[in-house]
Amino acid sequence: MSRYAAFVLLLSSGIVFQLSHGTEVNVTNKDGKLCLYASLTVNFSVEYTAAGKGALATFGLPSNVTTTGSKCDNTSSTLTLNFGAGHSWSINFTVNGKNYQTDTITFSYNLNDSSLFPNSESNETKSVTAKPQITDIGLGTCYSCKSRDLIQADLVNMTLSDVLIQAFVSNGSRSENETICSADVPTTTAAPTTTVTNSTSTPTTPPTTTPTPTLPTPTTGKYGVKNDANGTDCLLATFGLRIGFTQGEKYQEMNFEPNGTKASGSCGTNSSELLLVSNDITIMFTFISDSKKFRLHALNVTTHGVQFSEVNTNLSLWEASVGSSYMCNKEQNNTITNLLSLYTFNLQVQPFEVKKGVFSTAEECQGDAESFLVPIAVGVALLVLILIVMVVYFIGRKRYMATGYESF
Ligand SMILES: *[C@@H]1O[C@H](CO)[C@@H](O)[C@H](O)[C@H]1NC(C)=O
Ligand SMILES: *[C@@H]1O[C@H](CO)[C@@H](O)[C@H](O)[C@H]1NC(C)=O
Ligand SMILES: *[C@@H]1O[C@H](CO)[C@@H](O)[C@H](O)[C@H]1NC(C)=O
Ligand SMILES: *[C@@H]1O[C@H](CO)[C@@H](O)[C@H](O)[C@H]1NC(C)=O
Ligand SMILES: *[C@@H]1O[C@H](CO)[C@@H](O)[C@H](O)[C@H]1NC(C)=O
Ligand SMILES: *[C@@H]1O[C@H](CO)[C@@H](O)[C@H](O)[C@H]1NC(C)=O
Ligand SMILES: *[C@@H]1O[C@H](CO)[C@@H](O)[C@H](O)[C@H]1NC(C)=O
Ligand SMILES: *[C@@H]1O[C@H](CO)[C@@H](O)[C@H](O)[C@H]1NC(C)=O
Ligand SMILES: *[C@@H]1O[C@H](CO)[C@@H](O)[C@H](O)[C@H]1NC(C)=O
Ligand SMILES: *[C@@H]1O[C@H](CO)[C@@H](O)[C@H](O)[C@H]1NC(C)=O
Repeated sequence: MSRYAAFVLLLSSGIVFQLSHGTEVNVTNKDGKLCLYASLTVNFSVEYTAAGKGALATFGLPSNVTTTGSKCDNTSSTLTLNFGAGHSWSINFTVNGKNYQTDTITFSYNLNDSSLFPNSESNETKSVTAKPQITDIGLGTCYSCKSRDLIQADLVNMTLSDVLIQAFVSNGSRSENETICSADVPTTTAAPTTTVTNSTSTPTTPPTTTPTPTLPTPTTGKYGVKNDANGTDCLLATFGLRIGFTQGEKYQEMNFEPNGTKASGSCGTNSSELLLVSNDITIMFTFISDSKKFRLHALNVTTHGVQFSEVNTNLSLWEASVGSSYMCNKEQNNTITNLLSLYTFNLQVQPFEVKKGVFSTAEECQGDAESFLVPIAVGVALLVLILIVMVVYFIGRKRYMATGYESF
């Protein structure tokens, strides 16, 4: 209830300006004061099926939009632009300390609109979401980015350009101060810079930045592959996964979501496979065994939304004796190819000789074993110290008593 009360405003009667190109909107709160300002150009390209064949629709965000569904709050704002026959483009912002950032972009498009999607087989309204990398915008400033920013989401590409947005307008008028995106900064500085266009003010120091927003630790998933013959697990794997990949110029990270993931695979004497298919990522692990040791030999990662696929078939990771499992609780960062890194959390795998469907004795990775040894080492050192102190004390006491007798 208090959450609803917190909504400073919610508003639909955005005033819409017509521009020769681009779209400009003012979202006002219920007092009629400006609370969100946006001016931007968005070009869409959408793959769809027309008459049994793949077709590509390209169109721009028209200047004639409505802002129904937009809302401004103290800590989060949403800009929703509705256009044409049931399409809408929405971007939301959240406050993060002294800055704000974009969270998600959601685009819904109505394939029943034959003016944009001629001959579409489907008449559904589809929706895609993407997480743009627009962060560290100083509160009280506009985000300005003239450069093109390509945002890919499943079958849709959205190209943003000439963006000027202030998501949290405090006193009813747009700020003259701007946070310029890194792509617009002519020098090699990668960080967004706050510039003060207000001529009477002195420039502020740029906010400290992180290149990518830190993701939460991925959820740990438990997976098994069943034996064909008797249906018991012959391969076990437990881990949280994150991939880091470079596409074009852009490095991004994605957590692997166990919920909804389908696990399959096969177990052999020399080679076992685990195939995980989640909504966003398909990963194939190939383990080999030379009868003494097993290891992860090949990894094939394919992402579904943004098209990315990398394979390495010559790995030597997660090595342990056959008949035991490999375990690594600490975060591990493995370089798979120069474009792909695999991060693992709370890892335990056993691709061969699983008995009774449970993990066998674990062989731990170096970091884990060290973290286990450190307390022991510290304990031993303390014990030795205590012994030395006691020995010194007794020797001293003996001497003192001896000299004591002499002095009498
Ligand atoms: C958007 O599309 C228009 C017309 O198709 C084109 O003139 C413009 O260059 C495009 N802008 C971007 C950023 O791709
Ligand atoms: C959408 O298409 C299905 C079959 O393709 C049809 O049964 C349905 O009536 C259509 N719905 C609309 C709103 O046109
Ligand atoms: C989106 O852009 C990528 C890279 O330029 C391209 O490979 C892909 O075909 C595009 N997809 C659409 C739907 O335009
Ligand atoms: C611009 O930034 C300066 C320094 O941070 C501040 O003093 C000034 O009030 C800001 N101007 C506006 C219009 O927000
Ligand atoms: C299931 O089959 C595998 C090999 O085919 C065998 O090693 C295992 O003991 C069997 N488990 C049970 C419970 O029969
Ligand atoms: C898994 O996903 C379903 C639907 O996507 C959801 O209802 C369920 O709560 C999720 N479970 C967990 C544990 O997140
Ligand atoms: C497994 O490897 C051993 C020797 O490394 C070989 O003799 C055997 O034929 C291999 N089995 C299979 C099924 O490939
Ligand atoms: C990797 O996986 C993708 C998708 O599952 C598949 O299309 C591709 O052929 C695989 N590559 C290799 C080398 O196995
Ligand atoms: C596989 O890796 C080993 C060492 O990591 C290297 O010596 C060998 O040349 C590689 N083989 C291929 C086919 O890349
Ligand atoms: C993981 O390793 C890659 C390649 O060595 C490196 O570029 C990246 O910064 C590392 N990531 C972390 C979080 O340590």
